[in-house]
Amino acid sequence: MPEDRSGAALPSSETIRVLRARVSVRKFADMPVSAGHVQAILEAAYRAPTSSNIQAYSVVIVRDKAARAALAVATGNQRHVAETPVFLAFCADLTRIEYAMEQRGHSLDGNNLEVCLVSSIDASLVGMAAYLAADSVGLKGVMIGGVRDKPDEVARILGLPARVYCVFGMCLGWPADVPKQKPRMDYDMVTHHERYEAAGAGAQLQRYDWTLAAHYQAAGRATTADSWTHDMDKKFHPPLRADLRRKLADLGFDFG
Ligand SMILES: Cc1cc2nc3c(=O)[nH]c(=O)nc-3n(C[C@H](O)[C@H](O)[C@H](O)COP(=O)(O)O)c2cc1C
Repeated sequence: MPEDRSGAALPSSETIRVLRARVSVRKFADMPVSAGHVQAILEAAYRAPTSSNIQAYSVVIVRDKAARAALAVATGNQRHVAETPVFLAFCADLTRIEYAMEQRGHSLDGNNLEVCLVSSIDASLVGMAAYLAADSVGLKGVMIGGVRDKPDEVARILGLPARVYCVFGMCLGWPADVPKQKPRMDYDMVTHHERYEAAGAGAQLQRYDWTLAAHYQAAGRATTADSWTHDMDKKFHPPLRADLRRKLADLGFDFG
């Protein structure tokens, strides 16, 4: 049972237990996910908070095998995208806002980063809520940021109009294999009280490097002793998805 520093049991709940136990799952049983399950999950997720009630999201439910195969290629040949029974595309969607504005003689042209951020945050909150709702009924999965490798190709496959882009996707299914939980950074490392405290990050990160390396080694996965810091440097140097701004602009997200 999780404890605080004094050894006292921390409060718990079904939601807390679901969150504490979750891991990304990439292998699915050959069993369909019913339309009812997807609707129950999404209807619950649409109750997520939304910035100023803008509800600037849309979700595309993809079951078609050929479409999933095409999405797997577009997301960097991710096998689980082709093999998942259902793929949910969580999109930032500004079309309804622009409609409201056009009725009043305005448009989103020349707008700023805020609309890009709030719609992406809205879509992300719905996505996380859906993920949690799915887990609570036994459906597992993994989020797919690989949709931003080729946002134009993903938009074509999903038939997205201008002012809509896929922020991330999600594979969902009945789990065939649930991997061991990946260790997270220590609670104290990412939690601050009253004011941000930067001291000590170096030593803490080194400990996390070792913890993660041990986890990967136990799972038979190649890694280095400086596992996390090595991976982060490799991921962001050179810059990841350097053409994303241009590609999002082409999709109608041309906000400075
Ligand atoms: C926004 C987002 C995008 C992600 N994109 C991918 C992806 O494209 N492919 C993949 O296999 N996992 C993806 N993941 C899963 C992460 O790799 C995973 O959550 C992380 O390594 C921690 O592992 P855990 O979820 O099992 O705790 C993504 C997760 C998030 C939140």
